[in-house]
Amino acid sequence: MAVSERIPAEGELARSYAEHLATWWRRLEAALEASGADGLVVFAGERKLVHRDDETYPFVADPYFKLWVPLPDAADSLLVLTPGRRPLLAYVQSESFWYEPPADPEGFWVEHFDVQVVPSAEAALEIARRVAATHAAIGETVDPALGFRSVNDPALLRRLDYCRAVKTPYEVSCIRRAAAVAARGHRAVAERFGPNVSEFDLHLAYCKATEHGENDLPYPNIIALNEHAAVLHYQHQRRRPPKESRSLLIDAGARFLGYACDITRTWHGRNGRFAALLAGMEKLQLELCAAARAGTDFVALNERAHRLVAGLLREQGLVKCSAEQAYEDGITAAFLPHGLGHLLGLQVHDVGGHQISPDGEMRPPPERHPFLRLTRVLEPGFVVTIEPGIYFIPALLQKLSGRASAAVDWDAVEPLMAFGGIRIEDDVAVTDGPPRNLTREAFSSLPAMQSARLQ
Ligand code: GLY
Ligand code: MN
Ligand code: MN
Repeated sequence: MAVSERIPAEGELARSYAEHLATWWRRLEAALEASGADGLVVFAGERKLVHRDDETYPFVADPYFKLWVPLPDAADSLLVLTPGRRPLLAYVQSESFWYEPPADPEGFWVEHFDVQVVPSAEAALEIARRVAATHAAIGETVDPALGFRSVNDPALLRRLDYCRAVKTPYEVSCIRRAAAVAARGHRAVAERFGPNVSEFDLHLAYCKATEHGENDLPYPNIIALNEHAAVLHYQHQRRRPPKESRSLLIDAGARFLGYACDITRTWHGRNGRFAALLAGMEKLQLELCAAARAGTDFVALNERAHRLVAGLLREQGLVKCSAEQAYEDGITAAFLPHGLGHLLGLQVHDVGGHQISPDGEMRPPPERHPFLRLTRVLEPGFVVTIEPGIYFIPALLQKLSGRASAAVDWDAVEPLMAFGGIRIEDDVAVTDGPPRNLTREAFSSLPAMQSARLQ
């Protein structure tokens, strides 16, 4: 949902939002008890000026602010949260003839707050100052002179972060809606992919279909043709089409009321070998999605992903050794250097992925998989990405040596280097029963693909 769109006043979201607030009040009260403060002030954050310029960087509201109010554009506003009292929102609506002022507060969230519309950031700070002696504060740039009891107290943040992994039904709805928007973009891009189409053309097609401007996207679109797909977070969009379009990896999301989705699809032109590898990846990715159940240790699921990738490398003749050896000798780590997935929510790589207790006990990723962002046991309410891949990254493959290098069938790998790699990424909600694949749900509610050439 773009910033300028209206937030509805009623409906399913309105009902689940009331429950979301009740859940977060309970969580906040427990966190405040541990920190000793009477309440909390949460700052949305301010627009940052570029050094010696009058232009600002794109504004990104503080996630701890957006957790309470769906106002991703409310720079300088702040919340005063005091258990037992109605929450107060100091909403900054400055007069300006240079910029359009923020809209009047509207939508399902308004009735839950005492909204005080103020004309400036200074006026909002005046409201915060009144409670500073008894309240904790969260915000990126909180002036110490305001005299808060604490600012970004790690004990308080840890408690909130731990809880943030368990999404309320309202949050799952927002991520599901974001996925529905992104699915439209992915579909538009898949239909446009073909000869004489540049990465930039595909990027524009995505933005148009999702009605997302560059700064509405939860992360910069990764739109990688051919070898570019071997760069995990490929950041450019080449303006000219390549001579031949062999493969396309698109990792692109959308936002809804501040919540992100994170979706990747890989497409191919005409190549049997790569198509077979992609079909194998699709199969194992679905198997992993179905395994994202409450009680599953994500570290073990990540290891299972590597073993499945090892099996696929073996089946497709990319390694000559057993799947077991391909995993044990670290060959799969060269083909799949990132983790299986991560928590998803207000942040794309959501907080708390390594935190295994409310008071901050951490479980680091295993030594063989240092980039794994989630090491917790899955609980109902977690929303995670499941994003296995196989990449042909020259620098990593060249590093394989000895028995591992001898086990790779380089003659089979070589022709695939020109395709860059494969990633398939879905957003999965863990429940009390079978997991809900929010991404597949979104794609299956779209009209059928127009192009017969692509799957
Ligand atoms: N889009 C970044 C990631 O998949 O983690
Ligand atoms: Mn991801
Ligand atoms: Mn992604």
